[in-house]
Amino acid sequence: MKELVMIIRPEKLEDIKKILDDVNCGGMTLYTAMGCGTQKGVTTDDANAVNEIKGFKTTINLLPKVKVEVVVEDKEVEHIIECVRETCATDHVGDGKIFIRDIEDVVRIRTGERGTKAL
Ligand SMILES: Nc1ncnc2c1ncn2[C@@H]1O[C@H](COP(=O)(O)OP(=O)(O)OP(=O)(O)O)[C@@H](O)[C@H]1O
Ligand SMILES: [Mg+2]
Repeated sequence: MKELVMIIRPEKLEDIKKILDDVNCGGMTLYTAMGCGTQKGVTTDDANAVNEIKGFKTTINLLPKVKVEVVVEDKEVEHIIECVRETCATDHVGDGKIFIRDIEDVVRIRTGERGTKAL
């Protein structure tokens, strides 16, 4: 099993929910978040502006993001990544990232089921 931690633009949330619903995920956890990537929260695509940020000390600006955590079977991972890229890649900086972690085991508290049966 893998956990996908997806940090996305808030306006893409409905698309992500649809993708996860379509793969019949067992559940998801969502957080509203603030964050920045390599541009330190500057929302321009202008490469010169980005270089300027890298060359001089600037104050980091945090932008609203949504963080979605979902644990899925290994075989679903690449399909989900493909779908998320299809819907969330806008060709502009700030589209977000997907962090992928191994999950050793899961327990459904109500029944005691373990592993993929507990997803
Ligand atoms: N290395 C990181 N660690 C933790 N969170 C990150 C990291 N990189 C990005 N994020 C989170 O993802 C959000 C979106 O990042 P973003 O898409 O701007 O990454 P980027 O590397 O700057 O890529 P791009 O050049 O396409 O903008 C950030 O606001 C932050 O919440
Ligand atoms: Mg960025």
